[in-house]
Amino acid sequence: MLKPPHPIARLAYALSMWINPNNHALDGGRASSAMEKECVADIARMFGWDTHLGHLCGGGTMANLEALWVAGRLRPGERVVASSQAHYTHSRISEVLQLDFDSVAVDERGRMDTEALESRLKSENIATVVASLGATGTGAVDPLPAILELQKVHGFRVHVDAAYGGYFRLVDNLDADARAAFARIGEADSIVIDPHKHGLQPYGCGCLLFRDPSVGSIYKHDSPYTYFSSDALHLGEISLECSRAGASAVALWATMRMLPLEPGGAFARDLTACREAALDLYARLDDDTRFLTVMRPELDIVVWAPAGTRASDISTRSARMFDEAARAHLHLALAKFPATLLARHWPQVEFDQDSVTCLRSCLMKPEHAQWLERIWEILDQVAD
Ligand SMILES: Cc1ncc(COP(=O)(O)O)c(C=O)c1O
Repeated sequence: MLKPPHPIARLAYALSMWINPNNHALDGGRASSAMEKECVADIARMFGWDTHLGHLCGGGTMANLEALWVAGRLRPGERVVASSQAHYTHSRISEVLQLDFDSVAVDERGRMDTEALESRLKSENIATVVASLGATGTGAVDPLPAILELQKVHGFRVHVDAAYGGYFRLVDNLDADARAAFARIGEADSIVIDPHKHGLQPYGCGCLLFRDPSVGSIYKHDSPYTYFSSDALHLGEISLECSRAGASAVALWATMRMLPLEPGGAFARDLTACREAALDLYARLDDDTRFLTVMRPELDIVVWAPAGTRASDISTRSARMFDEAARAHLHLALAKFPATLLARHWPQVEFDQDSVTCLRSCLMKPEHAQWLERIWEILDQVAD
């Protein structure tokens, strides 16, 4: 998941380093704190929120940790669940926070299986459901509308991990189910989105938002050292991290001034192109008997593998193709998926092991669309 920062973000970040503002307190970063509040409010508005509580942070892990920390403080001792395809950070964070965590099965598209969730809700004390809108491995978008219907009956908290997928709210070429999920993202209790993934920012820029600003009281702490110059909100008062790079806020602010979060705008058009590139690659792979595909991409991530008759053989061939493509300067990724998910797509394959190493491509640069012909030439060369 590598996307170069926009030149304006690099420049703004570098220029602000002459001051090296600290967005913990207004005393350490007056202008950069104001910029952070502006950016975060604009991101919240993208999700349909005119009021919110939120801030930037180190990245998706830190943002999800805070969201689950708040969830745990509101419903202590109760369970957190996420799909088995959710980012591994959720189970690890839960361990850190000593929250009871479990995963829920996925359907054939790698999305949370809401029937499985419903049967768990009937018998378990589930306080928080994490919905991934853009799972890291596959880009799968959990069926948020169905999860929200279950919330009406069972009254759990909904946390949306849109660290990867959040900005896809702006694009107009999603399939119906993903579109429906993004349309209702504003009904979640908390949302994570990473400007350092699809938001064209240097690393160290995640964002956490809560719908109900009153959860700010959970962050209440005494800081005898830091908040001197103003009674206005210091970002450190609503964040678990203390010192934070104000430069991240300056870079994001400059980028969002140049490329506002508008449907149909230049930023949204670039994301639309990423998704088109993913659909194009998927269609080529799906049409070619040398390859096996899994699910049609919901965002811009494509998972596939070289054809084979046995799971172990496919895994070996994936690893080989990864190396051969890299030698030809095409850098793919490897990802392991459970046999239970793949068997539904590959009925002809013998599963002699529990998981299969597949190839995975995040077509997250707008240039990928123009480069697809060249990408395909290399894949064509390296395929048996
Ligand atoms: C859906 C999702 N959540 C959380 C994370 C963790 O984010 P970070 O690497 O910024 O800590 C990722 C990273 O890929 C992700 O894709």
